Amino acid sequence: MTKPLLHVLSGNAVWPPPLWLMRQAGRYLPEYRAIRAQAGDFISLCTAPELAAEATLQPIRRYGFDAAILFSDILMVPWALGHGLRFAEGEGPVLPKLRTVADVDALNIDRMVREMAPIIETVRRVRVGMAREGFDRTTLIGFAGSPFTVACYMIEGGGSKDFAATRLMAYGEPLLFQRLMDVLVEATVIYVSAQIEAGAEVAMLFDSWAGVLSPSLFRAHVIAPTRRITAALKARFPDVPVIGFPRLAGPMLAEYATATGVDAVGMDTSVDPVRAAAEVPAHVALQGNLDPMALLAGGAAMADEVRNILRAVRGRPAIFNLGHGIVPQTKPEQVAELVELIRAT
Ligand code: CP3
Repeated sequence: MTKPLLHVLSGNAVWPPPLWLMRQAGRYLPEYRAIRAQAGDFISLCTAPELAAEATLQPIRRYGFDAAILFSDILMVPWALGHGLRFAEGEGPVLPKLRTVADVDALNIDRMVREMAPIIETVRRVRVGMAREGFDRTTLIGFAGSPFTVACYMIEGGGSKDFAATRLMAYGEPLLFQRLMDVLVEATVIYVSAQIEAGAEVAMLFDSWAGVLSPSLFRAHVIAPTRRITAALKARFPDVPVIGFPRLAGPMLAEYATATGVDAVGMDTSVDPVRAAAEVPAHVALQGNLDPMALLAGGAAMADEVRNILRAVRGRPAIFNLGHGIVPQTKPEQVAELVELIRAT
């Protein structure tokens, strides 16, 4: 049996579409909160293979999703490169603000390879756990942040409304910015390759802030690095599909889908799936895009949105997902309701 998600990613339409949810492991699950408390803090959880593997498997046990996604974070790459990272309770990530060539040259890929070892060990343990628990139809997705989004957090020192310092550096100090992007492209290829060698069956690249860029910068710092990473991964692992998620790309989505070489594009909540189905080449699968707030609201409002998405992607390779991550207020029963709705289609 070919796993449904892999069947879709090799260009086939499957009905109902395979299903997984961004942030399917996380605070909305009581069993996640328990192991998070056991680990102490989030980075300790990401670097404890036994606990991180458990977090990865928890949502599969509950819902039988078609994909498990490695439990880690996109910011573990800057952390492993030695840039520094902490998660302030209630505030989100805090990093040093990268400003100079010396800051870029201090990033250390050898160090990253050493520090990422527990995350790679998590991948191995997840595959063992999936076999042990008989999750035969579930595909393991490995992931990284895309260089632009990771650079955003490194330059701003955390989240931001508009990533103004990042955009200013891209325009005002293009050589410095490109130097950082080049390190992140190299680091991403090494990191994702190690995940694949350890058992990840698909690679997903999260470009959560792609949408803050002008079209020319989007081509330079979203499309070009994604194409480089995808080409490098395909050269080494021709059969491993790549999913790209250029969040809020808007009218640039179709160009991204065409020019990067990805096998699937994630549609964020703002994308009209009818339009995406018309504009994205048919060999590129569509993934998405229920608003996490529609899931939280549930009932008829959610069912209407689900119906619209399913109607739009019917007949083409598609993966049902949210348009962004599950919010922690979501109740586990609401997720069960969504899963039943899709499976009953
Ligand atoms: O289930 C999964 O999706 C797998 C694990 C995963 C996490 N983060 C776990 C996490 C994945 C794939 C991510 C991706 C990620 N991380 C992105 C890209 C997707 C997106 O949401 O746009 C981004 C931008 C990050 C950075 C990040 N990590 C932020 C801004 C925060 C703080 C805000 C928040 O949601 O708490 C995190 C923390 C984080 N990453 C948590 C989890 C489960 C919460 C940690 C906790 O307190 O337990």
